[in-house]
Amino acid sequence: MSAKHIETALVTAGRSKRFTQGSVNSVIQRASSLVFDSVAAKKQATAGRAQGELFYGRRGTLTHFSLQEAMCELEGGAGCALFPCGAAAVANTILAFVEQGDRVLMPVTAYEPTQDFCSKVLTRMGVATDWFDPSIGADIAALIQPTTRVVFLESPGSITMEVPDVPAIVAAVRARAPDAVIVMDNTWAAGILFKALDAGVDISVQAGTKYLVGHSDAMIGTAVANARCWEQLRENAYLMGQMVDADTAYVTSRGLRTLGVRLRQHQESSLRIAEWLAAHPLVARVNHPALPGSKGHAFWQRDFTGSSGLFSFILTKRLTDDEYARFLDNFTHFSMAYSWGGFESLILASQPEEIAAIRPGVGVDFTGTLVRVHIGLENVEDLLADLAAGFERIV
Ligand SMILES: Cc1ncc(COP(=O)(O)O)c(C=O)c1O
Repeated sequence: MSAKHIETALVTAGRSKRFTQGSVNSVIQRASSLVFDSVAAKKQATAGRAQGELFYGRRGTLTHFSLQEAMCELEGGAGCALFPCGAAAVANTILAFVEQGDRVLMPVTAYEPTQDFCSKVLTRMGVATDWFDPSIGADIAALIQPTTRVVFLESPGSITMEVPDVPAIVAAVRARAPDAVIVMDNTWAAGILFKALDAGVDISVQAGTKYLVGHSDAMIGTAVANARCWEQLRENAYLMGQMVDADTAYVTSRGLRTLGVRLRQHQESSLRIAEWLAAHPLVARVNHPALPGSKGHAFWQRDFTGSSGLFSFILTKRLTDDEYARFLDNFTHFSMAYSWGGFESLILASQPEEIAAIRPGVGVDFTGTLVRVHIGLENVEDLLADLAAGFERIV
């Protein structure tokens, strides 16, 4: 990592003259074919095709190289693979390192399609998954078998927002299985609020769809790898045909430029709302990593430099179908959508049994309806008034 502060790195990373060619932003180089001027030039491009020489569209153009360089600087990696979405980044990163007979260790709180990829796709390939509670810490050592090849982490956990003790897990895995590859879904931290590679993780994966793009209008996945894992990840991604178009790479780079100030506002507003919710009589619990009392808060405080805007809370009661619709159908500023990380506020709710169904072998420890919110960049007083009106509809 450079000596620059992160806000500065977000503005400058990936903007060398080769990529900007006299403008402020990187050029948008749309290409499948990249033309060689001579036999010698073709030879050079072929030799350097994995090291940033223009070779063929699927290996990337200047627009992709600019984003990849920026992501490596921001996350401290040796290389960055780009994918058409976050789910592709997760699936292809795991696939790059497993073969028949291997095992994957996966938290029960992983994003649901990540879990489904293990139970529906990896199983078919003869790769088994062992599940663990995110609070496991160093006890993960007991779950490691000689065939454990990938250990997957996600911090905080999807929907219920538990922060694991990543350094303890990494140390235990390294001691028992030095060759295992530790992969982390680092989307909530936008890859920068938690420096996964500095903590000993091998590959930090993100749904760039969320905070990197930041405007809810494009999908991309990124996987930043350390030197030990980069070549295998890169070649596997290439052979699986994983790439993203130049326009999407461009809007992702553009998103980086404002990521620092956006995250600061997401943090400030989401914490203010989390504190307000914690004092509300209809709220039993708030799951916000930066709020004392949230599961794994001490690890967040120790390991993260900030928070983003996604969290959840549990109501004191299970909403009836009528209450559920009345609550969710009538917000002014919160929209219902299955994503997050954009400039806008979002809300979704789940009944406890729906969450229990995606917590393999563990279930949940609450009985009220869970509400997940993404706090956007609107004025926080407007959002509080909207939520207060929502509670009035279910008293
Ligand atoms: C934590 C997490 N990881 C991965 C993904 C998948 O990203 P994408 O929708 O870009 O495939 C999501 C999407 O919601 C997510 O929340």
